[in-house]
Amino acid sequence: MENIDWKNIGFGYKKTEYNVRCYYRDGQWGELEVSSSEMIPIHMAATTLHYGQEAFEGLKAFKGPDGKVRIFRLEENGKRLQSSSDGIMMERVPLDIFKNAIIKAVELNSKWVPPYGSGASLYIRPLLIGTGPQIGVKPADEYLFMVFVMPVGPYFKEGFKPTDYVIYRHFDRAAPQGTGKYKVGGNYAASLVAGHKAHAEGYSAVLYLDSREKKYIDECGPANFFGIKDNKFITPESDSILPSITNKSLQQIATDLGLEVERRRVAVEELATFEEAGACGTAAVISPIRKIVDADENLEYVYGDDPGKWSLKLYETLQGIQYGTIEDKHNWNTVIE
Ligand code: PLP
Ligand code: COI
Repeated sequence: MENIDWKNIGFGYKKTEYNVRCYYRDGQWGELEVSSSEMIPIHMAATTLHYGQEAFEGLKAFKGPDGKVRIFRLEENGKRLQSSSDGIMMERVPLDIFKNAIIKAVELNSKWVPPYGSGASLYIRPLLIGTGPQIGVKPADEYLFMVFVMPVGPYFKEGFKPTDYVIYRHFDRAAPQGTGKYKVGGNYAASLVAGHKAHAEGYSAVLYLDSREKKYIDECGPANFFGIKDNKFITPESDSILPSITNKSLQQIATDLGLEVERRRVAVEELATFEEAGACGTAAVISPIRKIVDADENLEYVYGDDPGKWSLKLYETLQGIQYGTIEDKHNWNTVIE
């Protein structure tokens, strides 16, 4: 194994030893298979290639100071993959297959779990694709579920340092009654142009407004949004955003810390009233927001160069639970000895 500078690995693809696969054929799921190939043989008419029958998940495993590896909220990701599957008519991966495949992939690649104190973690990428051939627009009758893993650092290279976000009113990530609430590849394809423009202009990500009225905050390209004011943790309710498991966890932690939690529509003007704002997700953890630029309206909402006190407390508590230094009182971790 090469010598890895764990503190500076960033968020990118990295080859590890093994991946785990499971095929759905003839109306049933097969056994888990272990592979050391990065390639998948695929039929040229597979529905994933033509009609976007593809959903993925993202979760992380963390090594604690006790040497144990903890996988965060894996059942929640399993349920969300089932919901995504329903949304684009793919076969559901049973939760026990989801769980066993992830545990196997983590165990087989245990040497790739970054050491405690490096700030890095093991990113787990489950993927479900339609592999059966179709040329009419129809769901496949064969599927491949696979799990691969890689060590990662912060998604935004600044880590827990506040960065800038941008609102563009001429891009949508998802339609009002479309697939925004599912973790399907098409949403990410739809976000590439706006995301590229945002990066080129020096922003970490796009903050999307609702596509119907352009009045309310939806979410960021790769993460949910939250704002904090008057001891309240406020996060958008919307049919076109991904139900973030990090956000759900932060809402519980916020309640535990004594904040009130509001999940409701958040009007764009309300951005002016927040004391703190942040993006949250598995890859992003919490990425505090320094400022949001509403590019078409020529407005700026500024939150400051340093993380706010509640963002810091939420971040420290979440990471403490994930790394096993704070009691996991809601039973979120699956511990691998
Ligand atoms: N929103 C989008 C569009 C995402 O891709 C992600 C990443 O998974 C999130 C939100 C955050 O969700 P989670 O906290 O479950 O990772
Ligand atoms: C995640 O946070 O797991 C994501 O999937 C975000 C991004 C890498 C798409």
